[in-house]
Amino acid sequence: MSAFLSACRREPTMYTPVWLMRQAGRYQAKYRDIRSKLSFIEMCKTPEISAEVTLLPVRQFGVDAAIQFADILLILEPLEIGFEFTEKQGPRILKPVRTAGEIDAIREPVDIRNAIGYLLESIRIVRAELSDRVPLIGFAGAPFTLASYLIEGGASQEYVNTKRLMFSDPTAWDVLMTKLTNAVVEYLNAQVDAGVQALQVFDSWVGCLSPADYRKYVRPHMNRLFRALNPSVPVIHFGTGNPALYPLMKQAGGDVIGIDWRADLELQWSALGEVAIMGNLDPSSLLAPIEEMKQRAKRVIDSAKSRPGHIFNLGHGVLPQTDESSVKLLVDFVHEYSSR
Ligand code: CP3
Repeated sequence: MSAFLSACRREPTMYTPVWLMRQAGRYQAKYRDIRSKLSFIEMCKTPEISAEVTLLPVRQFGVDAAIQFADILLILEPLEIGFEFTEKQGPRILKPVRTAGEIDAIREPVDIRNAIGYLLESIRIVRAELSDRVPLIGFAGAPFTLASYLIEGGASQEYVNTKRLMFSDPTAWDVLMTKLTNAVVEYLNAQVDAGVQALQVFDSWVGCLSPADYRKYVRPHMNRLFRALNPSVPVIHFGTGNPALYPLMKQAGGDVIGIDWRADLELQWSALGEVAIMGNLDPSSLLAPIEEMKQRAKRVIDSAKSRPGHIFNLGHGVLPQTDESSVKLLVDFVHEYSSR
């Protein structure tokens, strides 16, 4: 079995497996080249292109896992919620959802699999290229992160509208989270049927919540989500910005907890106990001189103390300012230094 899948199951590996969130992106010359001819959404919707982009970092850097090129917002299309990717501000929801009436009007998707045929086709192409050498990860946004996008209309600092709705109309909030959870389950299980060998649930914005609010407004839905996923593949549960939530995220579910650099990996792992851990190099470390970057990577590997179940990653996605050569040096360093 590959080092990545073994680590997901907390089995010993010959070295610490490494892959990077957002390992395919604008920091790569080949990506920019393809992107100069197509919009981001066209790239996602052309199976041959998204497959090629998925494979770029595997071929270029020798990472231990591929992540299917797509976006967390693609699931909104079968839900009939309009969105666009703007050049300057990132994704934007055309008509943000803010009232109980607007939440009731969101349709339960009839046939998600049909609506994401392009994604499932791309997964089949990637799997045929990689066979079993390098495993492929499928992903989705977690219901809270998707809900906050729908409500705020785009990225947010304070999540004012999301929290206003959550605190003032908990029934409407539950309806929204239930609809999103149903869609995410179907979206992820369809990817498993198409061939992905692991799943990642990105709860990128959940860190804005207090532990008490996570427990009350989010965890029951996450619990249901994890129980409904196809049990044949391991699941990575990733969140950023608030280490106090990691114990609650572990209770919610997932074989691997993805942590960011604000958390101390060693302390966090001791506190979480029996679970695999993914992380947690600060993505800015790749902007440092190479020796400094390696020192920082070394500290991450050392803090895992060779415990089975560590997957090396950044604490969040690769920054667009990153040099491709630094990524290659980082991946090689992790393999060499952790070799056992
Ligand atoms: O990791 C990978 O290599 C797979 C691809 C991937 C993308 N988005 C491609 C993408 C993944 C895993 C995502 C997840 C995603 N998308 C998240 C969760 C992870 C995180 O970073 O917190 C979120 C919040 C989104 C929403 C999103 N999509 C944002 C905020 C942006 C704009 C930011 C940016 O980098 O421009 C996107 C667009 C996007 N998604 C791009 C890529 C490569 C850039 C598109 C372009 O070329 O212009």
